[in-house]
Amino acid sequence: MKDLRTIILAAGKGTRMKSATPKVLHKVRGVPVIQYVLNIAGSIGSQKTYVVLGHKSEAIQNYVGKDFEIVEQKKLLGTADAVRCVEGQLKSYKGDVVILCGDTPLLRKSTIKALIRKHKKTTAACTLLTAVLHDPTGYGRIIRDGSGNLVAIREDADAVGFERNIAEINVGVYVFKCQALLGALKAVKANEKKKEFYLTDVIELLVEEGNKIDSIETDDKTEGLGVNTRLDLAEAERILRKRVLTDLMLSGVTILDPETTYIDAEAKIGADTTIYPFTVIESDVRIGTGCSVGPFARIRPGCRIGNDVEIGNYTEVSRTKIGNKTIMKHFSFLGDASVGTSVNVGAGAVTANYDGENKNATRISDGAFIGSDAILVAPVKVGKKAVVGAGSVVPKGKTIPENSIAVGAPAKIISKGK
Ligand code: UD1
Ligand code: CA
Repeated sequence: MKDLRTIILAAGKGTRMKSATPKVLHKVRGVPVIQYVLNIAGSIGSQKTYVVLGHKSEAIQNYVGKDFEIVEQKKLLGTADAVRCVEGQLKSYKGDVVILCGDTPLLRKSTIKALIRKHKKTTAACTLLTAVLHDPTGYGRIIRDGSGNLVAIREDADAVGFERNIAEINVGVYVFKCQALLGALKAVKANEKKKEFYLTDVIELLVEEGNKIDSIETDDKTEGLGVNTRLDLAEAERILRKRVLTDLMLSGVTILDPETTYIDAEAKIGADTTIYPFTVIESDVRIGTGCSVGPFARIRPGCRIGNDVEIGNYTEVSRTKIGNKTIMKHFSFLGDASVGTSVNVGAGAVTANYDGENKNATRISDGAFIGSDAILVAPVKVGKKAVVGAGSVVPKGKTIPENSIAVGAPAKIISKGK
């Protein structure tokens, strides 16, 4: 979108998390908190996105990567100061700027887009997102005059009397006319109690200069949740877990027991796949259509599973590709494997993919039959339609040729091809 830039504030220490890990790298549904906000910034058509990070924030910088411009806030003097760190880059910029906080993983793209649309339609110097909460404790309260005009934001620590009971809160998402913002930022004074410069003070300053402030309220009260403590993290996890499962069910996936099913935010699952109870599906997993997974299955990152695949009870699959119509019904582990189509992985068969130093690959070709309790000590190759007998141990480095049968420990080939 023309005339749109974004600033993500993520320099805060996250003191309330009491953690050695930066707050925004804590994960919700398997994905770091900041990733949700980066996804939004990447989807609203922003020409440029600045991420404000604190000093010595290598871990976050490495995570954020090169698509975003990192701006350093040397001293953590508050949210207004964080925005000031981008002043230089915005000096001659005449468009709008969206400000997001790095600690709000539940925001929806559609809401932010609606906010931008509204802002572009009016003359408001700022359009911001509010939410009405049962318990507004901890958030900035939205102050309105007798006619309902938004005139200020009062931070929780400064809210007194009736202000404490105001249920409408500041989510921390704003669209500003950039030059109006920069002008008002200059006048922000340090908060007396906290000695920090509050971005929220900009609102009152803009109103005093005769500007109009507009807002929209979220439909979904959970959307504005800011992750400040481990309690918030658990709450975000609960809400997002439900959202992920709901979206999957609405897209055609059967989930028999949502209460015991854990699916990460970035897993992709095709229609008519059924997920049985007590199943965990992690991020960076793709599962095709018509599959059945579980009960008690764990599909770990890096798995690509085709269509009509059956992954049954007490199974684990990690960094593995599985072709269409393959079945693996009981007590199996596949790690670093590439498995073809219509393969049968017998009960208890496993890949021994780790030799104590390295993870090694296993390749099982189309139509192969891996007997019960077989152990494939990777690296190993099993050819097309080859059979590995029950209880066999296929030693490291071995190839079982196409159509042949191998049995024993160590496995020996007893029948070669047709
Ligand atoms: C802030 C808002 C509050 C709002 C709430 C919504 C202010 C003063 N208050 O409060 O009105 O209801 O968010 O979640 O803005 N940050 C920096 N540099 C700093 C300080 C903070 O980059 O010096 C970043 C943090 O990393 C965080 C964001 O700004 O991502 C918000 O800071 P935080 O301390 O979490 O503010 P809240 O107290 O939650
Ligand atoms: Ca916060």
